[in-house]
Amino acid sequence: MQSTRQDSEPGLHVAIVMDGNGRWATARGLPRRRGHEAGARAVRGIVETAPTLGIGLLTLYAFSADNWKRPPREVGALLALFRRYLDGECERLRANGVRLSIIGRRDRLPPSLLAAVERAELDTARGAELHLRIAIDYSGRDAIIAAAARARLIDSEMTREGFATLVAAAQHGGDARDVDLLIRTGGERRLSDFMLWEAAYAELSFTTRAWPDFTGAMLAAAVEDFRGRNRRFGALPDVAVAG
Ligand code: IPE
Ligand code: IPE
Ligand code: MG
Repeated sequence: MQSTRQDSEPGLHVAIVMDGNGRWATARGLPRRRGHEAGARAVRGIVETAPTLGIGLLTLYAFSADNWKRPPREVGALLALFRRYLDGECERLRANGVRLSIIGRRDRLPPSLLAAVERAELDTARGAELHLRIAIDYSGRDAIIAAAARARLIDSEMTREGFATLVAAAQHGGDARDVDLLIRTGGERRLSDFMLWEAAYAELSFTTRAWPDFTGAMLAAAVEDFRGRNRRFGALPDVAVAG
């Protein structure tokens, strides 16, 4: 796989809310689960394009803690799909140097899915081209609550960096980096409890394109747009300081 990433830099952190699967299917007269299947197929192209764009960490929102509120049939179809994805893609991910982690709660996952998660993480642990994190049963608020509970036990003088490590640890995150670019497909313009701590200074990118139709070229366009933005983090741009 070609990569523009330098060994010395970790690369961009891009996070994506993969939304619009259900509407994509409904618009085609298909059951919603077919939209989720098409969505899972779309992941491959994005994962293969990401390292060529200088992305080192890619966090994909697949299932929120609130998605348990959906009808049991849809939830069941999604959980079965995650398991098939993990078992089916693992070899390819490993061949492409992708390290896969699942973030979120694990105690509510069916044992067969949990086993697939642990297998896939172990099999891809040496991947160094890209760290792919898929969020399943994830809640940004719950991650902050869990981190706050630990912080009280550990240190009352907690720094932002120290707390970020706890937020990441609270959801098996492994990497406490802030989000550089947060993309949401499917037309909604909200975070839906995703990366609440990590997205404090994320650049936001919204597209009406449904996730199953989101391509590597669209990711490239979003990253190019991101690179043209002026991130200030509360300070003044260099030109204003000089003046
Ligand atoms: C995103 O697609 C996938 C999950 C939330 C699991 P949706 O299922 O939310 O699709 P829409 O938003 O209903 O179209
Ligand atoms: C957010 O999408 C979760 C995922 C994409 C996995 P939702 O479709 O669940 O979000 P809302 O309900 O529109 O806010
Ligand atoms: Mg949705």
